[in-house]
Amino acid sequence: MASIHVESASELLEAQAHVWNYSFNYINCMSVKCAIQLGIPEIIHKHGQPITLSQIVSALGVNPNKAHGIHRLMRVLVHTGFFSQPKVSKIDHQEDKYFLTPSSRLLLKDAPFTAAPFVFLLLDPLVINPFQSLSAWFKNDDSTLFETTNGKKIWDCVANEPKFKKTFYNGMVSDSQLVARALIEDHKEVFKGLKSLVDVGGGTGTMAETIAKAFPKIHCTVFDLPHVVDNLQGTKNLAFHGGDMFKAIPSVDAVLLKWILHDWGDEESLKILKRCREAIPSKEMGGKVIIIDLVMGMEDQSEGAIETQLCFDMTMMCLFNTGKERSVEEWKKLFLEAGFTHSKISPILGLRSLIELYP
Ligand SMILES: C[S@@+](CC[C@H](N)C(=O)[O-])C[C@H]1O[C@@H](n2cnc3c(N)ncnc32)[C@H](O)[C@@H]1O
Repeated sequence: MASIHVESASELLEAQAHVWNYSFNYINCMSVKCAIQLGIPEIIHKHGQPITLSQIVSALGVNPNKAHGIHRLMRVLVHTGFFSQPKVSKIDHQEDKYFLTPSSRLLLKDAPFTAAPFVFLLLDPLVINPFQSLSAWFKNDDSTLFETTNGKKIWDCVANEPKFKKTFYNGMVSDSQLVARALIEDHKEVFKGLKSLVDVGGGTGTMAETIAKAFPKIHCTVFDLPHVVDNLQGTKNLAFHGGDMFKAIPSVDAVLLKWILHDWGDEESLKILKRCREAIPSKEMGGKVIIIDLVMGMEDQSEGAIETQLCFDMTMMCLFNTGKERSVEEWKKLFLEAGFTHSKISPILGLRSLIELYP
């Protein structure tokens, strides 16, 4: 008979703490969302120096009966690193003060690289509610978990629900502003020698627009579905082009695919990469594909980074079914099958990597 391991009481209590910790995780992200919605980062920023709780409460104009809750909210957000408190001597009976950390500075709504719109996208009810039905989805016939809850595919929601379309592209713009800056400031060489570039699935054009401004000699095209780009205005070296990346991509020196392939399974990704290959010249003639996406399992990643990548992968499954985050091996297999002989993966964009791909 198999022996059953009986945990000691202290092991059980430790396990209970672990279970509780995970069951409450949603409170951390909802607290961040609440702080952004209330404008707490702006209040601290405007104050220009560490601010007391009473000053935050009075600036917020919250219901006085609920003012105690702001202290509790701030306590969670200090614990999770969104705000910081200078050490004050308790003997002075001074009120605790708060200041911003790099994470809350990134949540200022008017900061040039604000991450607030991306938080609103990740925590939009259309995106998080489906997770309540994850177990049901595993047993039903719906293709995506998103459809199980929202009744239609995500791209149909983006196309037909103006509020969600705005939330979606505001999130994408906010991320693209930061990624474009990182590329242009620290990795310019990626664009060396290019005369033309098409940002496939480039959304409302933030990446291409920033590249076009930084490199006036590169002609940039934003290629996306017609409903996304039809009314957008180009400039001297920036154009918008509506189309379907599964059918044909305009001919250029380089194709940029930022956050495209993780939306799709291998079969669809292979089709997209083949269209990219057809659009560019040989390596000798300067042809390349630039991919910005997650690469799972790279060395030297923190526990936090690994957890975030795993959560991204679950999100891709929820939103797109066949969408997924890929390991180095999975990426390389895909590249070979699509006919690309050389690739270089550089983990230089925070949690994501820059992949340069040559025919
Ligand atoms: C996750 S978003 C990425 C947007 C942008 N690259 C970024 O990172 O900010 C994926 C984009 O692919 C576009 N897309 C989806 N299907 C497409 C298709 N068949 N042809 C062209 N674009 C498509 C969507 O409209 C959307 O703008």
